[in-house]
Amino acid sequence: MTRIFLVLLTITLFACKLSAQEWVVPAENGAKLSPFAFSDSTRKAGGDLYNLNCKSCHGDPGKNNAVKLVPLPPDAASTQMQKNTDGALLYKIYEGRLLMPSFKNTLSAADLWRIISFIRGFNDKYVQEVAPKPAAGTFLENVNFQITWDKDWGQVQVAVTSLKDLKRVPVPGAELKLFAKRYFGNLPIGETKTTDNQGIAQFNFPTNLPGDSAGVVTLLVQPVDQAAFGETKAETSLAIGIPNNRPALNEQRALWNVVQKTPVWLLLTFIFTVLTVWGFIVYVMLQLKAIFKSGSENNPG
Ligand code: HEC
Repeated sequence: MTRIFLVLLTITLFACKLSAQEWVVPAENGAKLSPFAFSDSTRKAGGDLYNLNCKSCHGDPGKNNAVKLVPLPPDAASTQMQKNTDGALLYKIYEGRLLMPSFKNTLSAADLWRIISFIRGFNDKYVQEVAPKPAAGTFLENVNFQITWDKDWGQVQVAVTSLKDLKRVPVPGAELKLFAKRYFGNLPIGETKTTDNQGIAQFNFPTNLPGDSAGVVTLLVQPVDQAAFGETKAETSLAIGIPNNRPALNEQRALWNVVQKTPVWLLLTFIFTVLTVWGFIVYVMLQLKAIFKSGSENNPG
């Protein structure tokens, strides 16, 4: 009992210590700027997203009605919140810490910027600095990802091109993420890669990734910076996985399938058990009847 108490005390103290700690944001993250200018429409959209995702803990901006957590979720209008740079806000919402959840897999970067535009709406002194647009002509138009399999190197190759003066040109310096599609979500393959001067990025592909029965894996490529590329992505199916010969869940006899697909042993065990139980019940009833009969024979009338 004392030990549990001590453990709890340590955890609480540790949490309090962490809560007092500065939330350090890496310099390059802190300097990030929104790719679009904040406006009434971004604030409106951000407000809806805030009410849906943040209000339950942070409360209404300016009302100091946040939920009493440790550490306390700061009010969106507070100095503690507003003294963050735009990039720092993005980083903190993206990464999360302790009770502050990470929104990296829930909301897109564009949505996070909309929420930040809403939060900034509660700061009169705030003047937005927008990320510089790429120089004219380098704007990415009609981005295309081509996914191929490089057999010699055992690598997946992704070639990124965009349309410039009606011609396809390679896009260097694009950060890409590669996923294998699975029934439940996408499985990341390797780390984020950046395209080279020819607009090509190579991903090492695991040699033991199961595909379907023909070894086909569906690959999904996504740019990290969705703001610059638009929310584009590309999918390709390649026969580069290990053929997976396990039958589909509904193909063979299986417990959760209809009667004829139930494993034979289970069916027999089930029938046997049911018959035994019923046999026993009938036996007991017959015995009772015999007892009753012999009783009424001994005491006629
Ligand atoms: C489950 C409760 C919860 C939800 C939901 C939540 N937060 Fe938080 N948030 C916290 C807590 C607790 C902290 C303090 C974390 C810390 O300092 O370690 C925090 C801290 C923050 C900070 C850092 C403030 C600072 O001190 O610099 C920002 C920014 C933030 N939250 C924004 C958001 C936004 C935007 C959303 C919605 C998209 C959100 N939070 C949703 C609980 C929550």
